[in-house]
Amino acid sequence: MPNMSVSDPRLYVALDLPDIESARAMVAMLGDAVVSYKVGLQLLPLGGTEFGRELKRAGKNVFLDFKLHDIGATVEKATRSITEAGADLLTVHATPDVMAAAVRGRRDSGLKIMAVTVLTSLDDNALLEMGYFTNVEELVIHRVRQAVDAGVDGVISSPLEAEKIRTMVPRDFLIITPGVRMPGGDKGDQTRIATPKDALKNGASHIVVGRPITQASDPCKAALEILANIGNS
Ligand code: C5P
Repeated sequence: MPNMSVSDPRLYVALDLPDIESARAMVAMLGDAVVSYKVGLQLLPLGGTEFGRELKRAGKNVFLDFKLHDIGATVEKATRSITEAGADLLTVHATPDVMAAAVRGRRDSGLKIMAVTVLTSLDDNALLEMGYFTNVEELVIHRVRQAVDAGVDGVISSPLEAEKIRTMVPRDFLIITPGVRMPGGDKGDQTRIATPKDALKNGASHIVVGRPITQASDPCKAALEILANIGNS
């Protein structure tokens, strides 16, 4: 059994749950084992931003996964509104105008802007279908360059892209990877996966894990096993 006292801010648990009550119960169940949480599109329309404030008051790190994508003026104002929540991280899509607007909108709030390079559900065929005449790897590299130029704080990427990205960015640039599974774990709809330890070894600064923890019969045990896999890496 992993050491109960071990907790690690690099593990963000994705609270992809049907309502705030379920999310609150999950956070209570995970207790001191988990200090960082991601609140995404499923909870945001149900009071997820306010819930993020509650998590901050409880001393947690909060990642609001809005994945903003709109005209610059709107993204700037939306980002400014979101700074009121006191969260740590906000996602926007990695197009130059959107990233620049979010950086303007966060001003000196301390909110870190994370750019989603290419959704991990997209493959080369899907990009072609959308009218992009490139492949996932090239588009990720292109968008990472633009993210660095735009002055965002980091990117969201597949753990398999993290190693390449790490060679292209400033030292303190954040790389957050979903698509993390324990050895032998159920992949679900994730295709490009790595273990927690390997994601961090590849250059990720943080990992996001959802269903392997929130759908486990014992979520706390599942989180502690992931923390043990990370160890001191
Ligand atoms: O698969 P898991 O439940 O661990 O997903 C955690 C997070 O990863 C989700 O909140 C979602 O934002 C993201 N995700 C992804 N690609 C997928 C499925 C989920 O990046 N194919």
